[in-house]
Amino acid sequence: MNKKLRPAVIAGNWKMNKTPAETTALINEMKPLVKDANCKVVLCVPFIDIAAAVAAAEGSNIEIGAENVHFKESGAYTGEISAQMLVESGVKYVVIGHSERRQYFGETDQTVNLRTLAALNAGLTAIVCVGETLEQRELGYTETLLKFQTKMALTNVTKDQLKNVIIAYEPVWAIGTGVTATAEQADEGNGYVREAIAEVYGKDVAETVTIQYGGSMNAKNADELVAKTNVDGGLIGGASLKAEDFSIIVKAASK
Ligand code: 13P
Repeated sequence: MNKKLRPAVIAGNWKMNKTPAETTALINEMKPLVKDANCKVVLCVPFIDIAAAVAAAEGSNIEIGAENVHFKESGAYTGEISAQMLVESGVKYVVIGHSERRQYFGETDQTVNLRTLAALNAGLTAIVCVGETLEQRELGYTETLLKFQTKMALTNVTKDQLKNVIIAYEPVWAIGTGVTATAEQADEGNGYVREAIAEVYGKDVAETVTIQYGGSMNAKNADELVAKTNVDGGLIGGASLKAEDFSIIVKAASK
């Protein structure tokens, strides 16, 4: 396997944190710290912070993402945001199917697929999240579940569109808990995702897809995680809210 076939991407997922003013301040703090990155640097921020984030990141190597997107182009969907709205706001990436959305907001494999297609059709890069719960892991379903979630999310996604897909393997038991998967567990989980992609699109194509690890990745454990063959960067929650910690993770992925 050759990691050079796919770019490493470090993406922050700010979740429901930071006001627009705080967004400007944090990005201004981060810019000089990540400017020499040898990987892609993305910040996925709350919808209300997008304008401030795009303005603050302008001219830097930081790209801005959103945390969700609706699958319809427009219409009577109070409170929702379309892919075209994101594109026009300067957004390049969007997180889809995060476990918190699956857990608290009724997201299903079907809606994850529809959102992925909507994002790709609008020219966005989709960061699609998959991951097992602790119960599913203990029952021995990790591989089955990760492959199923990956294939469901990518239904009707063409080989060409796959260039704009990143998969983030985020074990639910490692999110926001301070419990990180071991580097071996992360590599194995990401490997299952890559196998699922290979089963549908072929091995050569699967080798080109960026697969991140997410779940309590931080300044201390990033080095070990991103060194693994199948770990092409990370989707970072808590540690992406601290400029210095985030920049250390970016440096780890830049080696
Ligand atoms: P933490 O890094 O806070 O565990 O969050 C991970 C995550 O959910 C990123 O999407």
